[in-house]
Amino acid sequence: MEDIVVGIDIGTTKVCALIGRIDKANQLNVLGVGTEACNGVRKGVIVDMDSTANSIKAAVEQAESMAGLRVGSAYANIPGIHVSVINNRTGINVSNENREITIKDVERLLYSARNVSVPEDRQIIDIIPKQYIIDGYDEIIDPVGMVGVKMEVDADVVAGKITSVQNIVRSMERAGIKTDGLVVEALATGEVVLTPEEKEMSVLLIDVGGGITDVSVFKSKKLVLCDSIPVGGDHITNDISIGLKIPYSEAEKVKREFGLALTSLIKNDQEFSVFDVNENRKKSIKVSEVVEIIEARVHEIFTLINDLLASNGIDSSNIAGVVLAGGGITNADGCIQLANEVFGIPVRVVSNRSLGIGKSEHITAAGIVKYIAVNAKGNNMSSDVKNIKQKAVKKEWGLFKRISKLFNNLF
Ligand SMILES: Nc1ncnc2c1ncn2[C@@H]1O[C@H](COP(=O)(O)OP(=O)(O)OP(=O)(O)O)[C@@H](O)[C@H]1O
Ligand SMILES: [Mg+2]
Repeated sequence: MEDIVVGIDIGTTKVCALIGRIDKANQLNVLGVGTEACNGVRKGVIVDMDSTANSIKAAVEQAESMAGLRVGSAYANIPGIHVSVINNRTGINVSNENREITIKDVERLLYSARNVSVPEDRQIIDIIPKQYIIDGYDEIIDPVGMVGVKMEVDADVVAGKITSVQNIVRSMERAGIKTDGLVVEALATGEVVLTPEEKEMSVLLIDVGGGITDVSVFKSKKLVLCDSIPVGGDHITNDISIGLKIPYSEAEKVKREFGLALTSLIKNDQEFSVFDVNENRKKSIKVSEVVEIIEARVHEIFTLINDLLASNGIDSSNIAGVVLAGGGITNADGCIQLANEVFGIPVRVVSNRSLGIGKSEHITAAGIVKYIAVNAKGNNMSSDVKNIKQKAVKKEWGLFKRISKLFNNLF
């Protein structure tokens, strides 16, 4: 099944597996999707492989039964905290006698782009061509079929921490899934939630997950910053739990019930009853007591991001807008005002409904599928899936996989 791609988002709070197909109009058709709680990941780092593998397996099984398909391989995400992006420009001579550029030339060129020194603890996981240059003419997006003598590429070489990469690959393996490749989380999420105009101008994408917040900046369609801060929605819950002396589970319930990040938006500051740390007793607290805590933490997250931008030489006033994504923030009314206050630029919140995606927790998995499909450009990068009653279909190696196989024998 050549055009089916499976994306697995391994998050701090949940694993989401999505089996999808991108149609000719670039729309994602979801064939199957499954989500399972995950306790094996802390702050974006896999700390318990068996537990993570169990969550992957369960999420994949749900997606399989919805799609009526059996999954043998899939792509997974890797958070920005585990990757570094190195820009590299390299060139080759076109091999064909008539100088027509073929897919083989492009593969050869992209292979040569990996000739860049990466730190010892990192391995290359992706090569993202930004533009091709043929005999000095730049900004070429798809060189196949064009004619030239020398072809160069301006590429982002993505290097992941070896231990993090291996932990993901092994957890997938334990779940019976072969890893087709890894996609940087911001690129996956960005593929779905950002408009082409936003990527073209310059945009700050903030994805507040459970344990980490992915921070990325796109400018002129390029990823110019890809990092994470180790704070997310679970820290808000923790603050509520400690601040109000209530159990963590009760704090999570309260946080979701009010869905507010700004005290000035409270309409009715009523009292309500919650379980005390001593779970047999109940006590009264006010809505404002909860929202004050949420507001302080969300404000702190945005301030930390502003500091991160500054330390990377990025001035937020030079960015056209902010896009807020991730379960840790998209459910909190008032986050737009808070972000606006800190960054001083227009802010919008991602809505899964307007994206045509069932639930917000599916966004990153959907993004993995879309990123792979969009970047396949005629190469077979599909995942290994078969009808439940069918025998395994032998699949072709796609460009990405051929490259990664040649590079590292990794996946
Ligand atoms: N309805 C809701 N109201 C408030 N917060 C919510 C709601 N639903 C989810 N959250 C919060 O969203 C966070 C999880 O978000 P998300 O699913 O994006 O994270 P993740 O992908 O599992 O984690 P990460 O990206 O950090 O690895 C949790 O902190 C959770 O409490
Ligand atoms: Mg996430």
